[in-house]
Amino acid sequence: MTKPLYFDCHATTPVAAAVVQAMAPYWSECFGNPAGASVWGWEAEAAVEQARAAVAAAIGARPSEIIFTSGATEANNLAIKGVAEAGLARGRHLVTVTTEHSAVLAPCAYLERLGFTVDYLPVDGEGQIDLTQLAAVLRPDTVLVSIMAANNEIGVLHPLAEIGALCRERGIWFHTDAAQAIGKISLSVETLPIDLLSLTAHKCYGPKGIGALYVRTGTPLASQLHGGGQEHDRRSGTLNVPLIVGMAQALTLAIADLPHESPRLATLRDRLWAQLTAALPDLVLNGSGTNRLPHNLNFSVPGLNGNALVAALRPYLAVSSGSACAAGRPSHVLQALGRSPALANASLRFGLGKFHQADDIDRAAAVVIDAVQKLR
Ligand SMILES: Cc1ncc(COP(=O)(O)O)c(C=O)c1O
Repeated sequence: MTKPLYFDCHATTPVAAAVVQAMAPYWSECFGNPAGASVWGWEAEAAVEQARAAVAAAIGARPSEIIFTSGATEANNLAIKGVAEAGLARGRHLVTVTTEHSAVLAPCAYLERLGFTVDYLPVDGEGQIDLTQLAAVLRPDTVLVSIMAANNEIGVLHPLAEIGALCRERGIWFHTDAAQAIGKISLSVETLPIDLLSLTAHKCYGPKGIGALYVRTGTPLASQLHGGGQEHDRRSGTLNVPLIVGMAQALTLAIADLPHESPRLATLRDRLWAQLTAALPDLVLNGSGTNRLPHNLNFSVPGLNGNALVAALRPYLAVSSGSACAAGRPSHVLQALGRSPALANASLRFGLGKFHQADDIDRAAAVVIDAVQKLR
């Protein structure tokens, strides 16, 4: 079976050959438990600490500020529940945005059930927040603000420096989910006022099931996984050495490639949009024309049944309609932009990757144009 052309890099990416190679010795040769007290353990521990230093360097952090997790879902849960619990003396109020990933919205909803109050900021028609509105909802009992670096559906970038500054002035901790941003835009916690930052490896050519939470020194955090006390008692569980090594390699490569790969992807994405709109001028762009991830394109096709469109494209193109994590439901992100359920349904999300060249873009554009013209 010929597989469709893959354009779903916000869902996941293939593991880079160099990453597979870096992980290889840690499955069955250097298989020790990093907590073990023998040369087997020391060797594994050395690999983990080297990886920790590399992950820290990728975001301008100190190695001691990195906690390995099973991905961004766990990192978000640890950040939100961990700070909420540790900051109980300060209050029970949190702030986030309606367009966040479910890995932020669900822990917030969980805390609401425990008696916390959460303000969900609205977004404008392009998916951007209003900083004046953010400032207005911050209270003396606000413990945490959680706002993503880049949206996974529409790629919109949030103003981290300004959000962090508002939080810092008031002594509020600021968490950002950088699952989609890492390796695509430059991000440094050395210069940005971010207290906690979630990472995952599988969106930037690393393995699935591994991520990390950056926690700025001095930020209070209550562990959410209790057990053997690994990660300085902040996240118990035997460390997954091969995946940790793979994550470090993937992030190191992604950061090194960023200066040339991000503009290359943006050029390809703009080529795709130009071809699509030349043939189909009524397409509606979802998100901002300029303030978005370089590899993201999301648009709605007016007057079409979304399911029919997705079915027509499926044999040729692997794209997402809304978020991969919420397949089948009208996107809460597109609805937050003010799109009708019909337009939200008839939307396509392209996530470009490093394996794409101009001819892939031209084929993808031709497939979409043909499908839309036939369905109309
Ligand atoms: C913005 C965002 N946050 C969190 C996640 C969850 O990441 P993971 O798959 O590593 O748990 C994703 C993945 O879809 C995402 O896009």
